[in-house]
Amino acid sequence: MDRRAPAVIVTGASRGIGAAAARWLGKIGACVVLVSRSAERMEEVKSEVKRLGGAALSVTGDVADPEVSTRTIEETVRAFGRVDAVINNAGMVEPLAMVAVADPLEWRRCVEVNLMGPFFMARAALPELRRTQGRIVNVSSGAATHSILAASAYCAAKAGLNHFTRVLAEEEPSIVAVAVRPGVVDTAMQVVLREKGPESMPGDHAEYYVNLKRDGRLEPPHQPARSIVWLALHAPPSWSGAFLSFDDPPLLEEAVRELGEWSV
Ligand SMILES: NC(=O)c1ccc[n+]([C@@H]2O[C@H](COP(=O)([O-])OP(=O)(O)OC[C@H]3O[C@@H](n4cnc5c(N)ncnc54)[C@H](OP(=O)(O)O)[C@@H]3O)[C@@H](O)[C@H]2O)c1
Repeated sequence: MDRRAPAVIVTGASRGIGAAAARWLGKIGACVVLVSRSAERMEEVKSEVKRLGGAALSVTGDVADPEVSTRTIEETVRAFGRVDAVINNAGMVEPLAMVAVADPLEWRRCVEVNLMGPFFMARAALPELRRTQGRIVNVSSGAATHSILAASAYCAAKAGLNHFTRVLAEEEPSIVAVAVRPGVVDTAMQVVLREKGPESMPGDHAEYYVNLKRDGRLEPPHQPARSIVWLALHAPPSWSGAFLSFDDPPLLEEAVRELGEWSV
């Protein structure tokens, strides 16, 4: 193992944007730590990371459980000797239900996964990140600033994640913490919106998600994943606390220049 290779934790790495971020990291020979609840799927991603030239290990668990963050940091340090970055990407959009009928326990669960999860991981990683002057990338959403009707828990959790990132950045000047919106991306999360949206959202709202797919307007996961990985490796201190978009020109240009086009 190359001790100089960056060690990067990616939550939600069993599929979608997180798996794509792990593959980009594999391409540059990074040490990648995959976290999700799906051990078998992570085995596949791990094999791909290794085939691409990286090192990989996986931690199976629920990000809403603080013990999982502690274990992730311990296992990363044991295997790779350091933590250079955390990509808090694990997320869920459900429950899809208008506020008047939303199930309180499902609402709470959404906040626990999308907001508490990144807090637990950041808290556990901070001692290591201070040592490496490392980075935290919180994968947020346009939903942090725009309403998705029938997704109030998700919107509120992502808005909370953005502000959490700002406070964290001010508290921890030796690290860089950013939030980033990945655009609208062709993953399982969009399938949930298309398939379950019509039962819970106003008609035109549900149709919007169906049309995104029909009109080919969804980003492939490797596009936002490239920007996210670039941020994890290089986000400058002057960006700490910011809420960025994956295709903001300065970010996208740097990410393309450094990581190139997807070619595997
Ligand atoms: N797709 C979009 O259009 C879009 C737009 C804006 C923001 N985002 C954000 O991008 C991030 C990635 O989403 P995606 O589109 O790639 O979704 P996805 O395909 O549904 O993947 C979600 C990932 O998160 C993991 N995950 C979910 N709940 C978890 C939990 N409790 N503990 C551990 N892992 C958990 C899943 O793994 P397991 O199920 O195997 O545990 C999976 O690896 C999310 O934060 C999402 O909010 C996506």
